[in-house]
Amino acid sequence: MNEQTERLLVVDDEPAVCRVTAQRLERKGYDVTMATDATGALDLLAQKGFALALVDMRMPEKDGLWLLKQIWRYHPGVCVIMLTAVADVRTAVDCLRQGATDYLLKPVPGDVLTLTVERALRERRMKLELERYQKHLEEKVQEQARRIRQLYLGSVRSLAISLEAKDHYTRGHSERVAEFAVRLAQHLGLSKADTGLVDLAGLLHDIGKIGVREEVLNKPGRLTSEEFEHVKLHAALGAQILEPIAEDPRLVKAVLHHHENWDGTGYPHGLAGEAIPLLARMLKVTDVYEALTSNRPYRPARSPEEAHGIMEEEIGTVLPPEVTTAFFALLAEPSPAAAPLSAPADSEAASPAVANTSPTPSASKDASPQRKVLAPAGAQTPAQTEKEKTDAQP
Ligand SMILES: [Fe+2]
Repeated sequence: MNEQTERLLVVDDEPAVCRVTAQRLERKGYDVTMATDATGALDLLAQKGFALALVDMRMPEKDGLWLLKQIWRYHPGVCVIMLTAVADVRTAVDCLRQGATDYLLKPVPGDVLTLTVERALRERRMKLELERYQKHLEEKVQEQARRIRQLYLGSVRSLAISLEAKDHYTRGHSERVAEFAVRLAQHLGLSKADTGLVDLAGLLHDIGKIGVREEVLNKPGRLTSEEFEHVKLHAALGAQILEPIAEDPRLVKAVLHHHENWDGTGYPHGLAGEAIPLLARMLKVTDVYEALTSNRPYRPARSPEEAHGIMEEEIGTVLPPEVTTAFFALLAEPSPAAAPLSAPADSEAASPAVANTSPTPSASKDASPQRKVLAPAGAQTPAQTEKEKTDAQP
């Protein structure tokens, strides 16, 4: 801003002094307004964009120090030069401590007045310029950080998709879990932002399987206990992958805890009940349902009714009661706009015959909670049917 266009305010209870000071500054090209008391000055400051105020220290009612404090509080962009007729070092120090830019003794010689004003305005311009520059820099840094996060998340998402692309049977699993979880979030009345987070959590919940050995991931038969322990690491590993870039720590928690059981028998931390984060509980339910209603090499997809029955038996032990009940309610709703919840996108794998001939499918590769639903790791019960035992291998 050009100094000629910067507005100045002169505040002095003596109209003659006020006028003389204003005229000197006007002669230098400044746009000057006068006020003869502190409250009037404050009103003017609120209405117009002043750059600088020259304030007389001694005024009846509210004095210059009071006005200085008000300016500092409500108009921090205005610099203030205090004027006084008394040479008082303590007062001068007080003024500077309260935020005044300078302090002049009356009567002020004309050149001293204008030089002091010019210097104060120059410093103000530099300060404003620095603030603008810092703000610009901060915005650039934030924008850059946002882009990097987006790129990283995009890469992680691509990795998750690539991971599933290697497996005919779990292809599209994460997308479908995300779809179910989003609809569950909407059903539960979660905010738009939280629904977006649920979507991301659904897509990335098994990202940690990147760290699972491929021979284990693709093993067609039953996993050994050691192999199952290895697969279980995917929950913690997924959280580690996401932690440096997740904007919301709930995303990391959701991925970390998506295999916890309501009764505390799940992993990785054995959390129970409400201690399991809501997003993780939502992933658990939708992950189980998606897995049950999808084809696996060792069994065809179960019907929604069968899946419902299996899951119902696990409410309160493996599955969280409220979230599961809400999910059942959602399943019962007509969903004209969305794809049917019970139809996996990977419908080409619908035939058990195809499943039996595939070279890669494995019950172990998803380490999926549906096996947990049927039997927690290492805790298969005699009551299990042969099919359940197959599903429940570690
Ligand atoms: Fe998982």
